[in-house]
Amino acid sequence: MHPIKITICGGGNGAQTLLAIAAQNVGCAVDVYAPFADEAGRLRAGIAAHDGLEVRGAVQAQAQPRRVSADPAEVIPGSELVVLVVPAFAHEAILRQIAPFLDRDAWVGAIPARGGFDYCAAKVLQEQQRADVGLFGLQTLPWACRITEYGQVVQVLGVKEAVDAASRPAGRIGQLAPLLAQMLGLAVDPASGFLALTLANTGQLIHPGIMYGLFADWDGAALQTAPLFYQGLNEAGARTLADLSDDVQRIRARLGGIQDLAAVRPLKDWLLRSYGDAIADPSSLRSAFVTNRAYAGLKAPVREVAPGRFVPDFAARYLAEDVPFGLAASRAIAALSGVQTPAIDRVIAWAGERLGKDYLGRDAGRTRIPQQYGLDSLERLLTFADEKTA
Ligand code: NAI
Repeated sequence: MHPIKITICGGGNGAQTLLAIAAQNVGCAVDVYAPFADEAGRLRAGIAAHDGLEVRGAVQAQAQPRRVSADPAEVIPGSELVVLVVPAFAHEAILRQIAPFLDRDAWVGAIPARGGFDYCAAKVLQEQQRADVGLFGLQTLPWACRITEYGQVVQVLGVKEAVDAASRPAGRIGQLAPLLAQMLGLAVDPASGFLALTLANTGQLIHPGIMYGLFADWDGAALQTAPLFYQGLNEAGARTLADLSDDVQRIRARLGGIQDLAAVRPLKDWLLRSYGDAIADPSSLRSAFVTNRAYAGLKAPVREVAPGRFVPDFAARYLAEDVPFGLAASRAIAALSGVQTPAIDRVIAWAGERLGKDYLGRDAGRTRIPQQYGLDSLERLLTFADEKTA
């Protein structure tokens, strides 16, 4: 597949990183749909001031998008590939905005997909009668990246060696994977489908699990500094991560005979595969985190409440995205499968307390669980996973 045009949706860290890397790697026009606040104008101004957006650090690129717009009619038509690189809570709104302008047989996907992207996207496409459109998702964002100068410079702190991708309809990812690999500049391995991708989402384990490890016993006293997020992982935190991973592996064991869930790797296997030589000591789960060069120096999310005094920022993505769009979806699949998930339940309940949400009860409607989309039995879930249209 040699696309004429790719459009990236979003204007944050990941979108800007992908924009420069894709424009450099694919050699086709790259447009940007940036509907959020004043981002399109700021992005255009930054790119013009710096003569192209520059990616520095673990990956280097410098390139210009063809067009940046807050109007989907200007950038979505003519795109073979449309990629959402935004937090999962923005997926549905953006899908609704772009759906009327998608070309026939276009591909639309999310990097990263997080949990249940397929449920949400299939609903939007069905409402708009767009069964021709293909869906894809990546298991993770390939980079740890932060904007240094908006529209000008992004710093890539770490890069993964390989990422898994899935499509809906499930069998079609093989057609798309070579283009995704070329665009990203790394190995893209086909997973069997979105059910595997939802369960294989390791962000749902790592982010809430480490937050729990760092702050479940926090006594409310201000901190002198933001703790190191990954390098600060202690034995108890590593135990929580292992328990979360074990819960997911029990779902894999239950459903693995019915669906191909090979992509649903135990957390340590995933870490070693994703980061390879960047990990100095792979002997234990904890050592694989604390000696991973790609994680070095990254801090826990905190808010400064007075000069030099910090409190954990529980509203940050690590709970607010990864629980309702991650753990809650896997937990819901477990419930449909008759699998107990004690560690996942504990972390969801704790995160909910911190966020003032009851994700397993009153606020289930704020999560991307299959039951919200009418998939309220294992049979329905598996039938949906095997459907031949988006
Ligand atoms: P970000 O915070 O930089 O991106 C936010 C962008 O999303 C905004 O700039 C805007 O373009 C869009 N957006 C936000 N709310 C919106 C709304 N209501 N409507 C429309 N657009 C909206 O996020 P970042 O860092 O680019 O992350 C993107 C995804 O990648 C997230 O799922 C994140 O968890 C994941 N990720 C990010 C990593 C990183 O190092 N930046 C590492 C691993 C995963």
